[in-house]
Amino acid sequence: MALLTIRQMGDEILTKKCKPVKAINKRILQLADDMFETMYDAAGVGLAAPQVGVLKRMVVIDVTPDPEEGEELKEEDMLRFCMINPEIISADGEQTDYEGCLSYAGMSGIVTRPDHVVVRFTDLDGDECELEGTGLLARAICHELDHLEGKMYVEKVEGKVITNEELAEIRRKEREAAAQGGNAENGEGKAD
Ligand code: NI
Repeated sequence: MALLTIRQMGDEILTKKCKPVKAINKRILQLADDMFETMYDAAGVGLAAPQVGVLKRMVVIDVTPDPEEGEELKEEDMLRFCMINPEIISADGEQTDYEGCLSYAGMSGIVTRPDHVVVRFTDLDGDECELEGTGLLARAICHELDHLEGKMYVEKVEGKVITNEELAEIRRKEREAAAQGGNAENGEGKAD
């Protein structure tokens, strides 16, 4: 396994459309391993191949929720995927929240995404899969698949992009408001 360099916005590779993966060979399996390792190291929840300089249609996502205190993570609660040649076949609903990107480190912006998507992809065993995602998983799928088209979330941001410190402050105020009986939405604000 190896940590890969995450390309940052301004790098031309992030604006290119990716090519389909033709065969799941050793190199692709290695790339998947390295992408997971790189994503976890950067504390992200998603990473697309072009972000590590590879123009192939491949993404990794892990939006597994933290287990409750004292509980162990159950296999069926894991939301960890490597998607080869993914395609969104249906999308509906709407969610509006902050999102970030490992290729624009330390920043976040408000983006509206579908709240429910169905994605079709090939997994690392070569099996055709269909997966339904809601909430953060739907957001991550949309965000990562945009990377395969050479698109960054900043093109879709409503308002301005803010620093993660500013976002932490907004979240803190939301939690305060919620504690006082409001019902502020409680997103995660993690980077994809
Ligand atoms: Ni991203």
